[in-house]
Amino acid sequence: MGLSRQKYDVVIVGGGGSGLRAALQLSEAGHHVAVFSKVFPTRSHTVAAQGGISASLGNMQEDHWLWHMYDTIKGSDYLGDQDAIEFMCRKASEVVYELEHYGMPFDRNADGTIYQRPFGGHSQNFGERPVQRACAAADRTGHAMLHTLYQRNVSAHCHFFVEWMVLDLIRDYEGVVVGVVALEMETGDTVVFQAKATVLATGGAGRIFQSSTNAFINTGDGLGMAARAGIPLEDMEFWQFHPTGVAGAGILITEGVRGEGGILLNANGERFMERYAPHMKDLASRDVVSRAMDQEIKEGRGVGPEKDHVLLKLDHLGVEVIQKRLPGIREIAIKFAHVDPVREPIPVVPTCHYQMGGIPTNYYGQVVAPKGDNPAEVVPGLYAIGECACVSVHGANRLGTNSLLDLLVFGKSAGDHVAGWLATNPQHRDLPGDAADQSVARLSRIDKAQSGESVAAVSASMRKVVQHHAGVFRTGPLLEEGVVKISEVVDRVHCTAIQDKSRVFNTARIEALELENMAIVAQATLVSALARQESRGAHARDDFRERDDKNWLKHSLWYLEENRLEYKPVNLQPLTVESFEPKVRVY
Ligand code: FUM
Repeated sequence: MGLSRQKYDVVIVGGGGSGLRAALQLSEAGHHVAVFSKVFPTRSHTVAAQGGISASLGNMQEDHWLWHMYDTIKGSDYLGDQDAIEFMCRKASEVVYELEHYGMPFDRNADGTIYQRPFGGHSQNFGERPVQRACAAADRTGHAMLHTLYQRNVSAHCHFFVEWMVLDLIRDYEGVVVGVVALEMETGDTVVFQAKATVLATGGAGRIFQSSTNAFINTGDGLGMAARAGIPLEDMEFWQFHPTGVAGAGILITEGVRGEGGILLNANGERFMERYAPHMKDLASRDVVSRAMDQEIKEGRGVGPEKDHVLLKLDHLGVEVIQKRLPGIREIAIKFAHVDPVREPIPVVPTCHYQMGGIPTNYYGQVVAPKGDNPAEVVPGLYAIGECACVSVHGANRLGTNSLLDLLVFGKSAGDHVAGWLATNPQHRDLPGDAADQSVARLSRIDKAQSGESVAAVSASMRKVVQHHAGVFRTGPLLEEGVVKISEVVDRVHCTAIQDKSRVFNTARIEALELENMAIVAQATLVSALARQESRGAHARDDFRERDDKNWLKHSLWYLEENRLEYKPVNLQPLTVESFEPKVRVY
């Protein structure tokens, strides 16, 4: 093999919210934990989460975890697994209070309790009226959370490998995951890390779209690794478009703006959401609001010279509320939209924000891949958490603020489960002889290619195909064409070459490796979307406008090998309460 080796009890790939929460659970229990991150951990994409963390604390009005569970299932358009959703909603208060005790600087009410704001799709008493459930630290909740978790991990002696990219999983001959191969970005050194357990926490892959709220690091590295290791990707047709990305820039404007009372207007100055969601209006769930905006624009009521966006008005909230609750939004609007929202509305457009699908797991974070008759067969030694995982609590559409909750609940749950695994598997298993072969071959192709297309050109083509063919509204012919075009892109990915090698840094190799991962995610997305002949949550097909529970109440599983799909049933059975049967979804 020839590469240097290091050994840890646990390797965690990704230093965002879920990775840090799992790391904390294990480091505080005295395990030897290595966290790998392409960026300094507090710059992980969790830092961009703005509006809050959902938990039915009931600080503002009466609330209950069962109402939260109902809202999450309805928001998921009934594709979410109800055991995992119950698990998450019941644990929400516990993980938020833990964070508070770690020192998270939440906003406070006059009585000292955590401030909570309304968010789309969150309701009291099974949809009766909006409820304030999002626990907020101004409009910088993710930022506050990452710093809190990072500091606590440092005191727990967690070991951070900063500016390292993990390339591939290592599976032994029995299929057990025994570590990873990783690349130090500064030096280009490649090292084998042997681990008793490996946790993927690499975040989403929103960078496969042209217009995205995601950070540049969100390139689906964990999904690429899993797919190359023979693990399927679940529900990859479901991508959330956040209604309010800054038009032209894609930067997120939190839904918390609408939670605080902001409203969406079309070119006629009409509050159009009253027509699409008479009850919840601007606080309907994201798929509903994004489609309404797209419809307004398509029907000629968009704003601006190109009539290609709508407006988010918040000046009526007053400068005091904006400064206290939404200071970051004011700054973003001034810098990226050149408007001061205390006086003028912000131009906004639906923008790719979140990947509901991912690496299939159970609610302990264990990766599951069907084998023979067992649809829930566990991949030993491998866990996945956060946006790269599909538990599935978000189903076909995630509710705002359930993402930060997901990171905390499943980060902690996976940490606990890994600790149990370590107790029964105290020794490192032997590495297979070919442990690093796949990674070495990938690097060697990239390094040796003398001529070929630039990585940037192929990446741009990929993003264009995904944006155009798998956007807010989809049709069969559009998707069919997209599937053909994306396989052409995949072929081109393997023929790229780093241009002018005398002038490049190691970042060029990183971009080439990231493109390989993104191309896998893009192909999974288009193939899964073409196959699903219904509209459900964020997957809206003009040629199949209705949800079809008879044929499509099932999860898709896409395999890299043979570019094929299989399906598995949705779990409609919660842990302790009655099932919420699918019904028509109105807001
Ligand atoms: O709108 C927001 O603040 C985003 C929150 C989320 O995606 O959960």
